[in-house]
Amino acid sequence: MAAEYVFSKIKNADRVVLGLATGRTPLGMYRHLSKYSKEYKLSLSHVHTVNLDEYVGSKAYHAYMHQNVFDPIGIPNHQTHIPDGYAVDLEKECMRYEAVIQQLGGIDLQVLGIGENGHIGFNEPGTDFSSRTHVVELTESTLSANAKYFTREKQPRKAITMGIGTILESKEILLLAAGLKKAHAVRELFKGSLNENIPATVLNHHPNVTVIADRGARSLLEEES
Ligand code: PGA
Repeated sequence: MAAEYVFSKIKNADRVVLGLATGRTPLGMYRHLSKYSKEYKLSLSHVHTVNLDEYVGSKAYHAYMHQNVFDPIGIPNHQTHIPDGYAVDLEKECMRYEAVIQQLGGIDLQVLGIGENGHIGFNEPGTDFSSRTHVVELTESTLSANAKYFTREKQPRKAITMGIGTILESKEILLLAAGLKKAHAVRELFKGSLNENIPATVLNHHPNVTVIADRGARSLLEEES
């Protein structure tokens, strides 16, 4: 469903800036997007991408994006953007990244996952809703959820992430949630009050958000309705 949603945006636009997410949740979407782009033999020269985040001192999400998205789907390399976690001056890198998004004319459709703790991007609980791209210290909840990806490489404890203010400027947002572990965060998103401790609740203040959640992620909502 998510792949169809994103693919129809790609098909119907002369030029599109996609904000993309990593993690387990969007993998199925990327697999289907790759299938569609082959089936339709669609040129993707009008697609530009900006990623939400990257670890400091790592290229883990660069590798993920090349392996799962850019190479199989065929998005020209120079039209893809990911924060540089190896930048010598991280503050400068955050400013550069904001400028990249501005120069592209902003994000048309931002795809988001959601953390077990309600984070969006790597904006952990307590992040200012007006924040711009910045360096974060990851919480224990996020470190433990992502520990499985770092068997050989030591897991970084910091990351660069688009800020919540940056994300909110996207024209449209598609949030994907999968699995029981996300049920609490999804419940808070729909039923909770605006709360910096559950960053995703801020999406209630965006005019164009679509949520696609599987049965596990919806389970607490369904129990209550
Ligand atoms: P996941 O990560 O898709 O791997 O669960 C989502 C997130 O932490 O935002």
